[in-house]
Amino acid sequence: MLQPPKLALKGRNILVGISGGIAAYKIPQLVRLLKASGANVRVITTEMALRFVTAETLSVVSENPVLTPFFDPEAKTWNNHVDLGLWADAMLIAPCGANTLSKLVNGQCDNLLLTAFLSARCPVWIAPAMDLDMFQNPAVQQNLKAFQNNGGHTIEPEEGPLASGLVGKGRMAEPETLAAVLIDHFCPSDSPWVGKTVLVTAGPTHEAIDPVRFIGNRSSGLMGIELAEHLARCGAQVHLVLGPTHLQASSWVETHRVESALDMLEACQHLQASCDMIIMAAAVADYRPETASKQKIKKSEASLELQLIPNPDILSQLSHQRSKDQCIVGFALETENAEAYGQAKLHKKKLDAIVINQAGPETGFGHSTNKVILLHANGQRMESPLMNKSQLAPLLIDTLAEWFYA
Ligand code: CTP
Repeated sequence: MLQPPKLALKGRNILVGISGGIAAYKIPQLVRLLKASGANVRVITTEMALRFVTAETLSVVSENPVLTPFFDPEAKTWNNHVDLGLWADAMLIAPCGANTLSKLVNGQCDNLLLTAFLSARCPVWIAPAMDLDMFQNPAVQQNLKAFQNNGGHTIEPEEGPLASGLVGKGRMAEPETLAAVLIDHFCPSDSPWVGKTVLVTAGPTHEAIDPVRFIGNRSSGLMGIELAEHLARCGAQVHLVLGPTHLQASSWVETHRVESALDMLEACQHLQASCDMIIMAAAVADYRPETASKQKIKKSEASLELQLIPNPDILSQLSHQRSKDQCIVGFALETENAEAYGQAKLHKKKLDAIVINQAGPETGFGHSTNKVILLHANGQRMESPLMNKSQLAPLLIDTLAEWFYA
């Protein structure tokens, strides 16, 4: 199996701010590295930055328009810094010159980059870059301390030849170092998932009526696949038991394809003993036809009756057979009273945690977005906003890690 860290930033939204400084010419390389790690990248520059790097280059490598002024003079539209600030999972200002640093610390907002910074709810890093004496100046050093006291992170500049001809500390850290800091933030090398084996189920099950027909449901399997992928990126060994869907996981997730609930039960029972955690995201059919006709059922004038019998509850069985330290996480899909019904399932099936979805116009089966409540058996609770499933997966996995492996 391939090892994951390649796509360590998949689904992460990274906002790159570029201020004026010669090191700006290195930022296209940084953007390429972030993109290669799977991140979505948006770039904001100051006017001065565009003296050192072109917006065209940045937009090609980021695959997004580059934003500089508050207003787009051609489209006559406003560049919305609030949306950008909320969109970002991380913001990196590189290079960050002395002037921008000072404004960041003082809450000034006379350009788009600064307003986006003030609107950002995510962690923010700066990569200072300036000349030797500027960097050592007490005013700059005080601003760096103030930035950190305000909750910001600094990626230290490196020592070496500077644009002025002087040699010393002040060179922006190299793009590889900057990308590594973000990767380590999202997928830390000391990730609690390293050494853990996790079984994730996903997708619907198909219950055969005859060789060409089945009973199924609208699940695409996307949420479970995103969870499996993210766990693998965080260093877990992942088994994905996947019902019939056109979607597939990447090769670092070991996928076991199944059709029916009985197949899924068998695959899960086979894998259960080797797993530290089981996340049951599959939409298992509750009933199956008592007998599946061996031949295609022919049409007739008479009505057709199918006798349905209950499928085993896979989650309950796995929970019943679990080993002492095995952690079991269920899902619940509800159309009403979601939290109350979800909580009842958490207790009835003796789970450690449950992810509660409410089927709605933008949530649940067949949507790329979702909004969930995660409940711990001990009463802890996390409620997500409406978000893309690719972003929700890291949030769920991070919360489970905090609850069970901190
Ligand atoms: N589940 C299961 N086996 C089944 C049915 C459900 O393992 N035969 C699991 C699902 O994968 C999910 C959890 O049980 O993790 C809850 O599934 P859900 O469909 O929400 O609830 P049910 O238990 O089927 O109850 P109901 O359909 O009445 O809401």
